[in-house]
Amino acid sequence: KNIRIGFPSEFLWGGATSANQCEGSYNVGGRGIGHIDLLPQGETRWSIMQGYLDSFEPKENLHYPSRHGIEFYKHYKEDISLLSEMGFKVFRMSISWSRIYPTGEEDTPNEEGLQFYENVFKECHKHGIEPLVTMTHYDIPLELVKKYNGWEGRKTLHCFKKYVSTIVKRYKGLVKYWLTFNEINCVTALPYTAAGVVLDKSKNRDTQIYTAVHHELVASAWAVKYVHESDFESKVGCMLAAGVSYPYRCAPEDIWLAYTTDRNKYFFSDVMSYGKYPNYKLREFGQMGFEIPFLENDEEVLKDNTVDFISFSYYSSHIVCADTDIIAEKAEGNVFPTLRNPYLKEKETAWKWQIDAQGLRTTLNMFYDRYHKPLFIVENGVGGIDNLDNGKVHDEYHEHYLREHIKAMKEAIVLDGVDLMGYTPWGCIDLVSASTGQMKKRYGFIYVDVDDNGNGTYKRYKKDSFYWYKKVIESNGEVL
Ligand code: BG6
Repeated sequence: KNIRIGFPSEFLWGGATSANQCEGSYNVGGRGIGHIDLLPQGETRWSIMQGYLDSFEPKENLHYPSRHGIEFYKHYKEDISLLSEMGFKVFRMSISWSRIYPTGEEDTPNEEGLQFYENVFKECHKHGIEPLVTMTHYDIPLELVKKYNGWEGRKTLHCFKKYVSTIVKRYKGLVKYWLTFNEINCVTALPYTAAGVVLDKSKNRDTQIYTAVHHELVASAWAVKYVHESDFESKVGCMLAAGVSYPYRCAPEDIWLAYTTDRNKYFFSDVMSYGKYPNYKLREFGQMGFEIPFLENDEEVLKDNTVDFISFSYYSSHIVCADTDIIAEKAEGNVFPTLRNPYLKEKETAWKWQIDAQGLRTTLNMFYDRYHKPLFIVENGVGGIDNLDNGKVHDEYHEHYLREHIKAMKEAIVLDGVDLMGYTPWGCIDLVSASTGQMKKRYGFIYVDVDDNGNGTYKRYKKDSFYWYKKVIESNGEVL
């Protein structure tokens, strides 16, 4: 009973995407404009993501990549069939809120939008694939941003409840695994992307952000409640941008900084998992002078509706240092800043993200020790440049990165006893990059012929890693 030699037989192998990076057809089928449709590619993208948006009007000379993505809207049958050829057991995707409620505030949902996702889920089931659905992956109807400043406004929470009760009812029996907010902790770094919050210089930044956070946490608990009430077999998870923080030195102040940096991420899953705000955050809010805007029965809803599992993205570990005089080189990474780790053996990625497969094992153990709930890795991978040559793409670097991370997962399961439900590497089919808006930063097993400006045939090609991952799934993680 205490010995395990490999991945559990019910392990959910698959891949992950999001509507805003894939779906396209932004003005088709009654869809409303999403806040993400205002994120251009190019220089201003990052500052808008951080909350500095100067106008709700798109600019003539800019390219807005989420409007076309990879046109999954038109290609979904072909795409799902390719995923099924690799043996996918699960497919992570998200619903675009503005396809269901175009402005967020309609009394009745957009039937064409509802039908689209019903078709997609049925297509998945036809191929024996279980959909894993994110309710909101960096995606809010633009009107809610204009009127209520996204999640800063309490009204957005009310609109979300209507949206979630609609989708949960409609997809009962079709969706067994739900995630509430993608990378909910990214709101502190990227308030516009993650919560549709445009920063107002006359207001306190932390107050704006933590008001939005409170609304999202309560919204997430409502979502758990709706799912559990509608279908007791379905499971709901929270979703964090994870990655263990290492101290740069063994100086106590670096240890403390690494500890508290991680705890700032855990804060979100602490609330969603334990059903209440933890003391360390309450004290911090007290010092900041921030009062949590508890209203109605928020506290009770948080308490009674905790998540069933913890999901997260993992791209790399991070390094922190308390001494700002120490000149350690900065490195790039997913969302949160980090210093370069001189001990990592792998070469960094083409976008200069560091690679640390061992850090995944540590991250898995930290989560499991803290929550004792099943875990799900719903994003992991490496974005790089691929060349299409005579219909072929040789992408050994994808295989290498994933192989090392799968080994780390196996160690966590077999040697440490971590309960891991599944693995959905990011961008299983090439899609638009969230941070840069580029297409040329490719994660997929499937190449999509689109360039950074949205030009191309949109044809799909199997990369070498497609055949490799098929074998990994076939052998349940034994042939790597
Ligand atoms: C995560 C997001 O932060 O990282 C995804 O949930 C994103 O939406 C992924 O695409 C990879 O980041 P990037 O910037 O390389 O697309």
